[in-house]
Amino acid sequence: MDPFALSRHAVPAALAAVLLGAAPAALAQPTPARQAQLAHWLRDDCGACHGMTLRGGLGPPLTREALAGKPRESLVATVLYGRPGTAMPPWQPFMTQDEAQWLIDRLQAGKPPAVAPPAN
Ligand code: HEC
Repeated sequence: MDPFALSRHAVPAALAAVLLGAAPAALAQPTPARQAQLAHWLRDDCGACHGMTLRGGLGPPLTREALAGKPRESLVATVLYGRPGTAMPPWQPFMTQDEAQWLIDRLQAGKPPAVAPPAN
């Protein structure tokens, strides 16, 4: 998968969030709309490398078992800044620190956000 392909659809959304001042305040839960966006990324983008069921692929598994005992802050930093020299890209252009923290908390709890079925 080409990690830059995602910028085509993600950049306008991220830009809109910044322009509208929609970034959540410190420690706030992402809004339901952002939770849905994060769930989509997790499945379609993170899942492209980490596996759609997060059990690993090009990237390591993101299951509760695999992340057990790993410091939350370093996992959050990995999501925001990527791992230079590896395929893990930085997600800072697309999500806030709170959103990355929310994702890691869900992953470490073994409760990755699910993509909602189409509304109709
Ligand atoms: C282009 C492939 C790719 C994509 C897309 C990707 N990752 Fe990764 N990710 C990796 C690789 C490869 C590693 C392992 C890097 C290393 O060797 O340290 C990794 C490492 C990680 C780690 C650290 C795991 C650990 O056990 O230390 C986390 C957490 C993570 N990714 C989360 C995510 C999330 C969340 C997303 C989507 C927002 C994502 N990744 C998207 C390839 C990817």
